[in-house]
Amino acid sequence: MWKYKGRGVGIPARRAGNLADIRPPHTGPAPTNSHAPWACAPVLLALLLSACTQYPSGGNVRLHLDMVDQPTHRPQNDPRPLPPQSVPLSGWEQPMTRQQAELAPNPVPPTPAALQQAATLFGIYCTPCHGASGRGDGVIAAKMVKPADLTAAKYAASKDGFFYDVMRAGSGLMPPQYENLSPAERWTIVHHIRRLQSR
Ligand code: HEC
Repeated sequence: MWKYKGRGVGIPARRAGNLADIRPPHTGPAPTNSHAPWACAPVLLALLLSACTQYPSGGNVRLHLDMVDQPTHRPQNDPRPLPPQSVPLSGWEQPMTRQQAELAPNPVPPTPAALQQAATLFGIYCTPCHGASGRGDGVIAAKMVKPADLTAAKYAASKDGFFYDVMRAGSGLMPPQYENLSPAERWTIVHHIRRLQSR
């Protein structure tokens, strides 16, 4: 049974005994204390340096032992301000109203390649709701509010920028497509809507 035996409990007296007993006998010349004077050199140097430094606070070197106390960007801080006159080269497109979008001309020319891409993109992003013909009879139409008939006279008379902005911002129950379609892709799709309207 374990019994408390006072000091040194758990360490056998033989192992905890005098270290001198297990050290090899010293055979070299008698130990000298010759390098002892250099031992205090770093301390002297530090004292010397601190005496020379001219800090406005009174001449002492301030040792920062607290890492929190330094210039850092803290959570919830404002982002670093941009240098004056800087212009973003990437990022979000300019915010616009529908009226502004309707004034913008379609920057994508209706080349055969663009028309081909327009048909592909419309098939992926619009057909499920608006149907391949654009008349609002896609497979999802039966399960929700009937999507608009894009071939209706009202939309045939709409500006290119109107469609662009509906894709960008959505309209009523029509979900915005800005995450799926880049601005250029939106303008491209308008060519396919025009094609459907002319059929
Ligand atoms: C999730 C289904 C869905 C998808 C996908 C979808 N639409 Fe629609 N869209 C709708 C619905 C529903 C409406 C009618 C909204 C309403 O009346 O509130 C609509 C309306 C519209 C309108 C008329 C908006 C207005 O204000 O009159 C246009 C234009 C349009 N969609 C274009 C597109 C184009 C182009 C695409 C593909 C990039 C697309 N939609 C993808 C469901 C969809």
